[in-house]
Amino acid sequence: MAVDLSVTFTGLQFENPFLLASAPPTESDTNIMRAFDAGWGGVVTKTIGLHPVVNVAGPKTNFTYATPESFHLSMRKRAGTALHSSWNWELISDKPLDWWIPRIARIKKAYPAKILVASIMAGSGTDRELEHWQELARACQNEGADAFELNLSCPHMDRQDMGSNIGKDEGLISVVTQVVKEVATVPVWAKLTPATSDIVAEARASFRGGADAISSSNTFPSLPLIDLETLDFEMNVDGFVSSGGLGGPAILPQSLAKMAQLTQAFPDRAFSGIGGIGEFAHALNYFLLGCGTVQVCTAAMLDHAVGPNVIARLKAGLGEFLERHAGRGWSRLEDFRGLRRDHVVAHSKIRRPATREYHGGHEA
Ligand SMILES: Cc1cc2nc3c(=O)[nH]c(=O)nc-3n(C[C@H](O)[C@H](O)[C@H](O)COP(=O)(O)O)c2cc1C
Repeated sequence: MAVDLSVTFTGLQFENPFLLASAPPTESDTNIMRAFDAGWGGVVTKTIGLHPVVNVAGPKTNFTYATPESFHLSMRKRAGTALHSSWNWELISDKPLDWWIPRIARIKKAYPAKILVASIMAGSGTDRELEHWQELARACQNEGADAFELNLSCPHMDRQDMGSNIGKDEGLISVVTQVVKEVATVPVWAKLTPATSDIVAEARASFRGGADAISSSNTFPSLPLIDLETLDFEMNVDGFVSSGGLGGPAILPQSLAKMAQLTQAFPDRAFSGIGGIGEFAHALNYFLLGCGTVQVCTAAMLDHAVGPNVIARLKAGLGEFLERHAGRGWSRLEDFRGLRRDHVVAHSKIRRPATREYHGGHEA
């Protein structure tokens, strides 16, 4: 049986389920076109907004490496280490909408079969701010954007009405999603923050507002480590740091836990899995929990900026996986999607030794 890597997700046809996430790999038209040439099925643009953006006076991203056979973690470059995580405090795109508009059109004209998702972000404190969401949506879809991803999850915004501060407020999530849906002629995905206690509540609010899919996770709020010698944070400006976002291998299990909650609560909805993906085995976790697409950032940043080797491995991995399981009648992702969704259960549902019973801490 021939394997088929293509998927339909929120009504859009992708040649494969692997996307570059909204981040530096998708910050320009040249990067995005290189990514399409490399084989990515789709990209989510670096988030586009209307408010002024000025990044910190120093590096915006760095990577923490682990030393095997010790517990040493550091951003310091040293031989024989393995990637632990990325840490960033980069804001959204510092390019204005006017810069993006002709480029979105050019990319879509050159790559009509690839999926271009526009990540957008505005405030939510006033009617004018809510209109900004609509302005961004209209402008991007007029130029050919195939879908929107609402950035309700940027972890480093001081503004209380923006980024993950929206994603922590069910009312604002619904309102913003609804406002975009009012004008959108293409699917709307909501990218939620993992920095809340009950992501299911935020997802419910997104769906109430009309979201067609949920993307999760954005980076987890975190600090860079303090250097033992200098006693400074490994990333800082003039010695100061603020909460930033953790990505990469370290967040894979945490993101999966969030995703399991989401796909169990809404088994019939569409989910795009993000967090810690560098190879097919990682992506498979998200697919088996029920995701229809996955997105990659950190691994791509470390692989020629747009991840040509990462996407080659992901596509080959999916193809080989399908071939290996052809005997079960699997020829495409849909044939095994969600197969482990219901295997995440309450602790008391896990089997005990036959002689011992457990009732979730309660008396029998
Ligand atoms: C440097 C950097 C910049 C990012 N910028 C954005 C952004 O503009 N919009 C957004 O929605 N997510 C942004 N992200 C989050 C990523 O899209 C992704 O959700 C996160 O890094 C987890 O995926 P990973 O483990 O593959 O890195 C950024 C991540 C990094 C590392």
